[in-house]
Amino acid sequence: MSTVTIMPSGRTVDAAEGSTLLAAILGSDEKIQHNCDGKATCGTCHIFVLEGRKGVSKIGREENEKLDSIVGVGSKSRLACQATVLGTEDITLEVLSFR
Ligand code: FES
Repeated sequence: MSTVTIMPSGRTVDAAEGSTLLAAILGSDEKIQHNCDGKATCGTCHIFVLEGRKGVSKIGREENEKLDSIVGVGSKSRLACQATVLGTEDITLEVLSFR
């Protein structure tokens, strides 16, 4: 279990090992776009993982390819639907789609 802090609201939610960051965000009642429902094809669930990146699964090929096509991607970028909680560290992330 990890505690996920969601910026900019600062809301926190507990996330079980193996759950996606998208599920954690939606479970906290925070809003985030997720147009393809977790298939790594839309890119609308783009977030920044600010802290605890070692507590999140590694980027896979599909996620990497989609991130390559998104404007504004940086070293902290992840697709919330593809990044899963490892349960080893607490995580702070920033939701970008509702700025
Ligand atoms: S919901 Fe579409 S890429 Fe994550």
